[in-house]
Formats: sequence, C-alpha cells, structure tokens
Amino acid sequence: MSTLPLDDTATELQTAREWWRDAVIYQIYPRSFADSNGDGIGDFPGYTSKIPYLRQLGVDAVWLSPFYVSPQADAGYDVADYCDVNPLFGGLDDFDEFLRTAHEVGIRVVVDLVPNHSSDEHAWFRAALAAERGSQERARYVFREGRGAQGELPPNNWQSNFGGPAWTRIADGSWYLHLFDTKQPDFDWTNPEVADFFDDVLRFWLDRGVDGFRVDVAHALIKAENLPDIDDRKKVPAGDTGPMWDQEGVHDVYRRWHAVLDEYDGDRLLVAEAWVSPPERLARYVRPDEMHQAFNFPYMVAGWDAARLRAVIDQSIEANESVGAPTTWVLSNHDVVRHASRFGLADPTSWPNGIAPDDEQPDAALGLRRARAATLMMLALPGSAYVYQGEELGLPEATQLPADVRQDPTFARTGGAEAGRDGCRIPLPWVKDAPAFGFGPSADVWLPQPDSYGPLAADQQVDDPSSTYSLYRTALELRARYGLGSGSLAWDADGFGFTNGSVRVVSNFGTSPVGVDGEILVSSDGTAGPTLAQDATAWVLVP
Ligand code: NOJ
Ligand code: CA
Repeated sequence: MSTLPLDDTATELQTAREWWRDAVIYQIYPRSFADSNGDGIGDFPGYTSKIPYLRQLGVDAVWLSPFYVSPQADAGYDVADYCDVNPLFGGLDDFDEFLRTAHEVGIRVVVDLVPNHSSDEHAWFRAALAAERGSQERARYVFREGRGAQGELPPNNWQSNFGGPAWTRIADGSWYLHLFDTKQPDFDWTNPEVADFFDDVLRFWLDRGVDGFRVDVAHALIKAENLPDIDDRKKVPAGDTGPMWDQEGVHDVYRRWHAVLDEYDGDRLLVAEAWVSPPERLARYVRPDEMHQAFNFPYMVAGWDAARLRAVIDQSIEANESVGAPTTWVLSNHDVVRHASRFGLADPTSWPNGIAPDDEQPDAALGLRRARAATLMMLALPGSAYVYQGEELGLPEATQLPADVRQDPTFARTGGAEAGRDGCRIPLPWVKDAPAFGFGPSADVWLPQPDSYGPLAADQQVDDPSSTYSLYRTALELRARYGLGSGSLAWDADGFGFTNGSVRVVSNFGTSPVGVDGEILVSSDGTAGPTLAQDATAWVLVP
C-alpha cells in the first residue's frame, strides 16, 4: 500500500482547520425524515422545521441522501437531473432555505452524489437509447453486444447488486450495464465527457454553499478493462474484490474532485461510500489528495462482539493514521438493518439483508440495550461518527412489512428471497398521539409505521432523562466537552475498556458485572456504579 506520510506540523494544521475530522454527522433520509404537506413523504420544509431538534441533539452536520429529480426506482439513487430538487421534496428555493437555516445554527450540510449510474430517465440515457450503436450518446454509458450466436446472452456473467443479471437488452439488440437496478444504467467513466459533467455537478452544489458530498458506491466507477467475467457466478458480496470493484482508476477521479473542492473557501468534505475491506485498502480512498473520509463499514459489520470490535478499531485507526485521515464510525444507515434490531438477534454479529415476518425476530429489549451500549462506545472513539435518523430514538427495524408494501428493488429482483432495506426506512415518529405519529399533518406515510414506534416518538423522549434521545444528547455534549473526537485511544490492559483523554470507556460483554471505579459521566443503562452489568457501556471520569 502506498502512503503519503504527513509531518506533524501538517497534521496539526489540518486538525485545527478541518471541521469534519471530529464531526458527528446525522443522516437525513429525505423520504422519511419529516413531511410538511401531508403527502406521506418527507420534504424540505419538513426538514427545515426540525433543525431546532437537530441543534438540540448536538450534531455538527447533516448528510442528506438523494433529493434530486428521480423516478424513485431506488428511492432517489436513480437520478434523472443532478442539479434540481425532486418536486416531491420541494424546489431549489426550499433547499436553499434549509441550507441557510442549518448554517445559521452552525450545522453543516453534506449532499449525496451518485456518480456510478444515472436514472434511465436521465436526458443522457434517453438520448443514448434514441441514438445509434457506436454513437457519442451511447458512449456515456456501458453498451456492449451480447454473446451467443444472436447476441442473445449478456456480454458477461456479472450480477446486479440487487439480484438478477447486471445487463439489460434494448430494442436494437445491444445490452447496457447496470450494477444495480435496470433503471440505473452505469456511466462509462473512461469517457472524459462523464468526468467533465460531474465536475459541473460538484460546482453547482458548491456554488449553492454545500459543505461536502457523500459519494455513492465510490469503489465502482471504473471497471476492469474488457469487462471480464467474474470467477464466481454468484453475486459478488459487497466489499469483495471483482472486476467491478475497487479498481485503481477510481483514485484518479477522487484526485480530480479534491482539486475541484480546493477551488472553494472553507473545508468541503468528500466522504466515500466504498464497501472495501480490509481497512488498509479502504484507507487508499482517503490519501491526502483524494477524499477526506470513508464510511467505516468493517466496523459496522463487526456487530456486538468484543474481539471483533477491538480488532477492527485498531486496524481502522492504524490504517487511517498512515494516510493522515480521521477514522469514521457508523452503526446504521438506510441500507442495513437498524443496529437496535441486529443486536437483538441470537447472533449479534448477524448481517441479514432486511428482516421479513417469517425470519428470526429480534429481541427488542435486548437489541436496544446493546444498541445503547454500542452507541455509547462509538461516540467515545476518536474521529468522526455517523448517526442514522431515528437511531437516537432507539428505533428498531420494521420486521413485519407485508410483501405488497415493500419498495426496495432488492425484494422484487430476488423474488422475495431477500427482504431488503424498507424496514430501516420507515417514516420517523415525532408525536405519539398524532396521525402517522406526527410524521406529517396527515395519516399518510409511504411505508407503514409499526405500533412500537408510538412510545418511541420524539415527543415522548426529549424531556425524559432516561430516554435513548437523552443518552445521545448527553453523550454528544460530553464528547464535545472532553474533545473525544479529536482525542486518541489507549486500551486497558484487560477487559473491554479504553481511555480517551479524561474519559475512560468501559463496555461489559461478559455475563458477570464488572467494577467501575470513579465518577460515571454517563452510562448506557443508567447505572451510576460501582458495577456495570452485561451489555452496557459507561464513561468514567479519569481522576
Ligand atoms: C448505495 C446506496 O446507499 C444505496 O441505497 C443504493 O441503492 C446504491 N448505492 C445504489 O445507488
Ligand atoms: Ca411531503
């Protein structure tokens, strides 16, 4: 692995300057955060109305999943116009208002960039379909001739990440590549027109004042030359190596984008969504002239398991330090089963793709207990942390969704074999005794909310000191007060504990209580000591 060591002075300067190094970034999932007009789908006026809530929670920034013009075949990760807001969510003026209001209270705004593929309803793809084989219009996407006597077989054996073949045949007999849904054709990033186009997209949003970009499937843009078959015909698991993942050429794209961001004042962030492992490989995305952060998926998949967590924490910090980047931490997002439910499964390292009514059902109380412990540990780790909307309320996955309401393309493309991601994308409960639990002014919701969301509504939690919301809020306040995000970690000699500056963090993964000496600043189960029970975490003031 090539690394570009920074001298101490450079690191210090960057630490002082770059807001994202220790930031807590809250993910807003636009469809499900807050609805202002009662159509059952979140929108910008709704998000703006919740900025006081986010401020009180104490987050430094928000990341918005895609809100662009899109037929919503993959909940907005199928973009038909990169430089406009989907009318579902409002207009550009509503976006500007949100940005202004967030900035006014010191909350930064990161938007999602989807460069691997567009929607099939993007003007470029429509033009490609209307044009001839071999045309300039087709050259922006990955069109190929099929195999077999009549070209009736796909050009190679790649599978879509959502199930089924990664190729679709069009009327004139050519095939186009889509690593995701049929309605998400992959761009050809070897075509300079594509790179120029995305420079303009970055500038469009930077000119409006955004603080950065979360880059969708950042490890997929460049495919191996000649698109060779994969060895194993099965779907390539995310993070695995294969001719469509983690190719060397992607790094040129990020060096180019780094330079575009440098044209702007202040510190603008590029954060990679790259399912790449091990951490050393992922760290290559955050070398000094590339992106600034990458989501730590190796940490997210470790589950609630002491040995796995300790190993991945060490590996992540070491790999990131070798390139001068901050480590990030994340437990949940819109693609995975919420951690309050994953940790309630018999094996708390399980990694199901959604949970269906017939699958093993999580133990809700145990899952929440462990989720609170895991979160409290995460928020004490040095670096930057990502929080997915609703986890601060302790929301579980919705596991009883009937087939006919499921919307994730994964469900249909696997013939229902994989439940998919709808269960973590349910509209948030804001008010217990209100239609749609206060998600909006009507009873409409684009996905049904489970009854269990009522007692977990924000209005039930904000003033309750024992609530999960209060745990997050207290932890964020202490994290800022003790500078944990910009601190460093030293492990205890035994047990699961570490010290970060003035705070000692202890988690109990065993069955018997462990002793905790000293003043407990906050604990995941409310204990004030002197012992800590199983599946709990405490922050103790170092004397
Ligand atoms: C990753 C996104 O997080 C996910 O929601 C989406 O389906 C795929 N990329 C494709 O854009
Ligand atoms: Ca709405």
